Amino acid sequence: MIKRETIDKIFETARVEEVIGDFVNLKRAGSNLKGYSPFNDEKTPSFMVSPAKQIWKDFSSGKGGNVVTFLMEHERMTYPEALRWLAKRYNIEIEETEQTAEEKQKQSEREAMFLVLEFAKNWFKSQLFDTDAGKSIGLSYFKSRGFRQETLKVFETGFSPDRRDAFTKEALAKGFKKEFLIKTGLTIERNDRLIDRFSGRIMFPIHSMSGRVLGFGGRILDNSKKTAKYINSPENEIYHKSKVLYGIFQAKQQIVKENQCILVEGYTDVMAFYQAGIKNTVASSGTALTVEQIQLVKRLTKNILVIFDGDRAGISAALRGIDMILEQGLNVKVLLLPDGEDPDSFSKKVSTDELILYLTDNTQDFINFKATLLQEQARKDPVKKGELIRNIVESIANIPNAVQQEIYIKEVARIMDISEEVLFRELALVLKGIARRTEKDVLRKKYRESLKPVVKETPQTPVLNQRDVLEREIIKLLLLYGTKEVEVEDWDVKEIPDDNSDPVLEKFKRKTVIADEIYKQLQEDEMAFSNPVFKKLYNLIIPKVLERQQIDISQLMPELTEEEARIVTDILMEEEKYTLADWEAHNIDVKSKEETLGWHLMDVLLNMRRLLIKDLINEQKEKLKDNGAESGRIAIFNEIKDYLFLFKLVSTRLYRMA
Ligand code: CTP
Ligand code: MN
Repeated sequence: MIKRETIDKIFETARVEEVIGDFVNLKRAGSNLKGYSPFNDEKTPSFMVSPAKQIWKDFSSGKGGNVVTFLMEHERMTYPEALRWLAKRYNIEIEETEQTAEEKQKQSEREAMFLVLEFAKNWFKSQLFDTDAGKSIGLSYFKSRGFRQETLKVFETGFSPDRRDAFTKEALAKGFKKEFLIKTGLTIERNDRLIDRFSGRIMFPIHSMSGRVLGFGGRILDNSKKTAKYINSPENEIYHKSKVLYGIFQAKQQIVKENQCILVEGYTDVMAFYQAGIKNTVASSGTALTVEQIQLVKRLTKNILVIFDGDRAGISAALRGIDMILEQGLNVKVLLLPDGEDPDSFSKKVSTDELILYLTDNTQDFINFKATLLQEQARKDPVKKGELIRNIVESIANIPNAVQQEIYIKEVARIMDISEEVLFRELALVLKGIARRTEKDVLRKKYRESLKPVVKETPQTPVLNQRDVLEREIIKLLLLYGTKEVEVEDWDVKEIPDDNSDPVLEKFKRKTVIADEIYKQLQEDEMAFSNPVFKKLYNLIIPKVLERQQIDISQLMPELTEEEARIVTDILMEEEKYTLADWEAHNIDVKSKEETLGWHLMDVLLNMRRLLIKDLINEQKEKLKDNGAESGRIAIFNEIKDYLFLFKLVSTRLYRMA
């Protein structure tokens, strides 16, 4: 059994758009993401993900839910399987109420390693900022390279003193076990002696997406030394070089905002760009890009700008990496820096404005860039031209969009001076090869699918009565607009005529917050929800909205049963549905909807009260049936009369509204 706290943590951390993004190609549609249904073959996308609400809805199959239900539906996982999968993906330790000794051991080992890394980061930091050696050697080095203190703080850089075992000693004294110092790679055991791996280096902690330290890079201060300029943490249970991107923690929000990720090579490049105000930058840390790294970026954006140093060495190797980015369905742009510059050096030579100008002016489309490069090579070695053409056509074939492919073919024909027909023919050949491969994949997938047990379809939502509809509407108002202030029309009772004609009402306007209004009116009439699901939801939501808290669906989800979660999702997604048809039109819709929100609120509440009064009247009428004493019957008649008056009042107000 997974502990409750772990489940909460998983729901807090997991992002529905990231997880679904692993399985479905999602595109932005306003504040939502949409894509083709992974449950049905369809021609227009009807699959919707809301990052803000952390839910998804597939309008073609009616399925929907949160991140866990997606894995259950799509990957056919059980609930605990889905939780475990998410915990793994987000580096969350699973605490179990009951664990085998072996499981406990493994989990506590990872935890111990994280603690060591955290301690080391803080210690290196304090060495840099608070010790004489750190200040005079480390900090002054950073300063000489133009890094400001705020930047160093953001990236949590540090300093490892030039003493054999300064760190190891300190860590052991603080009670950290030798075993974990070695496992994290911070300490090396050599001839029975323990020494620091990073002694005499400035330290760059490498953070996970969620900000935990996974490992370090350390740079020597003196370029003339014979040892490697940088050394990095060795591969271990926590640090996998191929799965991290330096700076992703600091850059992720900006990447989402700009909808673009800039990829550079080095630690200092990331920091220098950040300092220059270009904060959506990450580094592959000098290695060829891996699929895992691309997928890390893909959770945040589909657009990558790759910056090449101006020395051109290694560009051809990098080109292969870029084809991989295309294969993953991302859009790639490239930028070549001036001769001899890397992002760090260049950003410090020019002003921020000049830097941005340079980026905008020199960013090229990847295919154009590659075609130009290949054309240069072809000019030098014409024999190779056929091979080069094939090469670029293969890149084009990776682009999952036929129209785009055609545009590129025309471009490349122009740049490389070949006829379009030749290129199209070549493309057809390459595509045929790909088709043959994917055809096999599809067949294999179908076969695997056929082996899976048939899972029962999600049950149809039962038919709702009028009371249910209204209660649902109240929940919807609370969920979507609970903290919103609206203007409502209200009525004062001016006169109650004796002749049983309609009461005289005077209309006036007032402002009210939706949650307050609902709460007040329900309290006044002692209206209770009759539907147990809506009742539970109301009790969960109302205290939060009354305190003006944003409703965090992911926090709510663990409290809900599967059915309740589905109802909440359906309610939330109703508003999103329209964005599928026409986003522009929807914007207009939203505006007019907000204007009528106050009206709608009162309409729902009045209808609710009318129903309630009707119920009360019926209740009294039932009482009349069991022939009681005359005096009691008169009391009941009076009660009914009062209710009938109220009923009339409410009905009149409703009537006036319409
Ligand atoms: N790198 C490495 N080991 C090395 C050299 C480089 O891991 N021996 C990685 C580092 O992540 C480094 C990146 O490759 O940041 C790029 O290397 P390079 O361009 O040589 O270094 P810079 O980042 O430019 O570092 P600096 O400006 O400090 O020289
Ligand atoms: Mn550099």
